[in-house]
Amino acid sequence: MKKYAEITGWGKCLPPAVLTNDDLATFLDTSDEWISSRTGILERRVSHLGTSELATIAARNALAAADLDPKELDLIIVGTCTPDEIIPNVASAVQRNIGATHAASLDANAACSSFLYAMHFATQAIKTGAHKKVLIIGAERLTRILDWTQRESAVLFGDGAGAMVLEASDNEVGLLSSHVTCDADARDVLSLDFGLSFDRFGFDGIMEFSFVGQEIFKRAVKGMSASVEKVFAETGLTTEDIDALIPHQANKRLIDFLAKLCKVPNEKTVINIQKYGNTSSATLPIAYAEAVEQGKIKPGDKIMSAVFGGGLTCGAGLIKWGDRVTPKQPNDRQLPAGDKSALELILPLHEHTKKAWEQRGK
Ligand SMILES: CC(C)(COP(=O)(O)OP(=O)(O)OC[C@H]1O[C@@H](n2cnc3c(N)ncnc32)[C@H](O)[C@@H]1OP(=O)(O)O)[C@@H](O)C(=O)NCCC(=O)NCCS
Repeated sequence: MKKYAEITGWGKCLPPAVLTNDDLATFLDTSDEWISSRTGILERRVSHLGTSELATIAARNALAAADLDPKELDLIIVGTCTPDEIIPNVASAVQRNIGATHAASLDANAACSSFLYAMHFATQAIKTGAHKKVLIIGAERLTRILDWTQRESAVLFGDGAGAMVLEASDNEVGLLSSHVTCDADARDVLSLDFGLSFDRFGFDGIMEFSFVGQEIFKRAVKGMSASVEKVFAETGLTTEDIDALIPHQANKRLIDFLAKLCKVPNEKTVINIQKYGNTSSATLPIAYAEAVEQGKIKPGDKIMSAVFGGGLTCGAGLIKWGDRVTPKQPNDRQLPAGDKSALELILPLHEHTKKAWEQRGK
């Protein structure tokens, strides 16, 4: 039996519309100075199309990089907390769009940790022989669920998607060790009531986004450090052995903390939060796809990744890259351009929520 899950394809999808910090300051009491100094974010993308569309483009790009016929896929996992619908899932839309007729299809929601969670379980499924060729995706359209009147959270997030193809292999590569966990005592510090408990009959236009940034920050530091330590312990590797750090992109200060913990210098830490903000489950696969494109990943590199998100879910993984750092087929498909600017897409959402809060007397 083949024992490893080699990453044979990678791809991303970023919507074309860019929302800058200055754009945000036109309707929120915020500033480029505050956002960039506290978070490292300069701009983010806003999608005019649904999560499934973003996921599909990222999937097509990953399949092109692997040069794999979608009919050979036997499992698709989409990490997302912003599905287009509650039923059916995003993975089934991707399955249909790409023609992966033999693939079981499921969504996984561990908020921002979903991609690493998906990779963890997909790798295990490949190792047991249950699945052989798996497509994992992180895709989010967070700009549709944010409260655009709440400056604390609205400035942090953006839309995007990324994907990887994992294939059973004898080569000792892929996710070699991973640790995923959940600090559920803190599940209320990041929440959005829009599941089956959602009271649609009493809905007044506000989906309450509860967000306690400082508490998330503190627990993220603790959780990610513990997960990284566990991965080091399991692999027997030390900070000396790490060639690159590709972390979740939630706050530049958190990334700097992790880099210090892993003793990885700046030039070996992949940071793109300045361009995309926090795209939740999509941060990791987008960062991997860009790192490969930009030559930051070399054949055989050992890469540490760490994530955290609502739940509070958390995790870390050690990935050994394979021999190939070039896509077999071009993997640069993009979302078709929309006819609205990012600000034109967001302003109606801001107006709508502002009015709803006023009607509630706030
Ligand atoms: C959200 C986060 C950037 C806030 O940074 P912080 O340094 O902790 O800032 P604070 O929450 O203490 O707020 C400091 C001040 O800035 C104000 N502020 C908050 N958001 C602001 C904004 N967008 N623009 C201007 N001022 C803002 C606050 O009202 C507060 O004002 P006060 O001192 O007058 O009360 C930080 O906590 C964080 O990155 N958390 C983790 C990331 C995260 O949660 N990601 C989502 C899950 S993956």
